[in-house]
Amino acid sequence: MKFLFEKSFLVPDNELARLLDRLKPYRSQLEKIIRSRKNSVDESSLNLPDSQEVLTAVEKTIDEKASENLKYFINIGIGGSNLGTKAVYDSLFGFFDLLEPDRYPKIIFADTNNPDQLVKIKRLISQKIKSADEVLVNIISKSGGTTETVGNFEALVRPLINKFPSINKRLVVTTGKNSPLWQEAEKKNITRLIIPEKVGGRYSVFSPVGLFPLGCIGINIRELRRGALRAREQSMQTTSLKNPALISASAIYYHYQQKKNICNNFFFAGELESLGKWYRQLMGESLGKTDCYHRKNCLTGITPIVSIGSTDLHSVGQLYLGGPKDKITTFVSFRKNRNDQRIEKRFFNRLVPMIDGKKLSTIMRAILEGTKIAYKQQGLPFMEIVLEENNEFALGEYLQFKMIEMMYLAKLLDVNAFNQPHVELYKKETKRILEGL
Ligand code: PA5
Repeated sequence: MKFLFEKSFLVPDNELARLLDRLKPYRSQLEKIIRSRKNSVDESSLNLPDSQEVLTAVEKTIDEKASENLKYFINIGIGGSNLGTKAVYDSLFGFFDLLEPDRYPKIIFADTNNPDQLVKIKRLISQKIKSADEVLVNIISKSGGTTETVGNFEALVRPLINKFPSINKRLVVTTGKNSPLWQEAEKKNITRLIIPEKVGGRYSVFSPVGLFPLGCIGINIRELRRGALRAREQSMQTTSLKNPALISASAIYYHYQQKKNICNNFFFAGELESLGKWYRQLMGESLGKTDCYHRKNCLTGITPIVSIGSTDLHSVGQLYLGGPKDKITTFVSFRKNRNDQRIEKRFFNRLVPMIDGKKLSTIMRAILEGTKIAYKQQGLPFMEIVLEENNEFALGEYLQFKMIEMMYLAKLLDVNAFNQPHVELYKKETKRILEGL
């Protein structure tokens, strides 16, 4: 992964030095947590990428459950119990699923309660799944009591039991130890994977939450972890200018202070859109807080948005380039593509002649470079992440880099990066309404 910022992030040297200095003690603290392998602290997700315990539990369960016949992995979970898995799956496979209908296994994500989607999943179960080993159902919930997750599972379990009476063997529950879901699953002798107590949803992609589903469908989870370890190492660098997480957090914070409170992740690869949605949760829930540690009612937050190049240049590009200067942007692209295609002999001779003989990747690179020049001309700050290519290592690197960036950013903003007290508000109200119906 390359991280480029110097000529474009528009942070004055003295300001950068001041912020990097402020983060020094916290960087040391994180390093100690990694060295001591502490799992009793909020930052303990840092120890997931090299946790032998997690890897052993996940690989053992994959060996038991994921036969060669597996076609559909139904992933029931929402928010942090879903977004990281979806980010990696969509990047590598999901985005292309429609074009590769015969590639299996596929993950079907059921997060919110969508009756039409559920009916279609039920139809798929009754019409397409021939034997129980073609399907695996994973119910993921840290709390074990999220309405949408329990609702989706209950809607699907009867048709599954009706078709395959021994379906319990094809269920896996991923949850907090001793959550109500854990206890129910234990009673029914359903395989369970533990979400470590101190790992919150949005930091859980390298726990069984992400590794189990991804590993079951053949994604190389060891490479994903290897990428994460590489990013963790870089994010602990003491030479701050070589530490992307420190720089990125400082830049976002600096611009936030300059009233740029929108953080735009601009992916020049459509398959990375779900990665952007994962980041939205990471930033939204980690930074959006009513109270800061040292100031009540500080009402802090930075709004994360996801853009896709070049698609969104044709929709919101005008706003970004011509509208209010309220955003800090990070462009994300691949250095090389897994596949490419050259425009050889043109069919229409007089249209856009400059694409002649060029590869599609070259055209995309020109669009990205053109966009960067336009940003510079407008005085808009940006950073750039160039991932080597679309593979597990690069995705692991990105995910870990961003989780550590968020910890640094929360430290600068003086907020708790690990709680989400206001998410509970709607959950509580929903349950109250349902009780009254
Ligand atoms: O980050 C979070 O804590 C939330 O987004 C949760 O992941 C989400 O609400 C789902 O909760 P649970 O995993 O308890 O079902």
